[in-house]
Amino acid sequence: MAKERKRSTQANENEGKPQVDWSFVERCLDTAPLRMILLHGPPGVGKTYAGYKKGRIGRGVYSITLTDETPAAELRGMWVPQKDGYVWQDGPVVSAMREGARVVVNEIGQASPDVLAFFLACCESRESARLTLPTGEHLVPAEGFNVVATSNEAPASLPLALRDRFDCTLEIDAPHPEALALLSEPLREAALRTFALEPERAVSIRSWLKLEELSGVMDLFQACLAVFGSERGRKIHEALTMRQLSF
Ligand SMILES: Nc1ncnc2c1ncn2[C@@H]1O[C@H](COP(=O)(O)OP(=O)(O)O)[C@@H](O)[C@H]1O
Ligand SMILES: [Mg+2]
Repeated sequence: MAKERKRSTQANENEGKPQVDWSFVERCLDTAPLRMILLHGPPGVGKTYAGYKKGRIGRGVYSITLTDETPAAELRGMWVPQKDGYVWQDGPVVSAMREGARVVVNEIGQASPDVLAFFLACCESRESARLTLPTGEHLVPAEGFNVVATSNEAPASLPLALRDRFDCTLEIDAPHPEALALLSEPLREAALRTFALEPERAVSIRSWLKLEELSGVMDLFQACLAVFGSERGRKIHEALTMRQLSF
């Protein structure tokens, strides 16, 4: 309760202003000693996009999105049947380790114990990270290998051993200015307003971008209903047309 109150006071103080320092996030994503980075925050603020597009991506970006049923083999690799037997195919984490590239691991909070054990081994320092693949090969991560993990949950909900592997943990609670710049002024203003509210009431930038796109082909009312559903869509439409912007 007290926490909620604190958060809403903070929201009022920061009304209309993004909280996150995106230039700092980008700097971290581009800083070589920060090999393991965790980006966390509400859905739709651009965590995955930043992992794919910002910083050290010159050697390519591999990615995987975890569910609690994802097996470690999806990250490590597997034997794939071919005409005359099986061939080994690297998974995204092993490919990134081999090539000194980046791997973006989305929804890290969903990692099963199997995935967690594999992932923790990959996140060791270069001196101690050494994987033995089912092929018998011993793999040491090439220089440049970096991991960007994303999570919608707070780091406190992640296992301690996992949290400990990250060199850098950054909260992202508002969209990137580049994403906001894709919106027309009233939508941008409305999006910023919702990001100043409690995280549960913030509207993903994904929805605002879709509304922007739809408003070119549908009237604004229909577009609001399509994107936000009937109840919230009506309120958002009203707020946009009256320019009251209270959600
Ligand atoms: N810097 C950006 N420039 C343009 N579009 C962006 C930017 N950041 C995010 N987006 C768009 O916003 C949407 C949500 O971003 P995403 O990275 O999937 O959010 P998250 O991972 O935080 O849930 C996506 O459609 C993405 O393409
Ligand atoms: Mg994401």
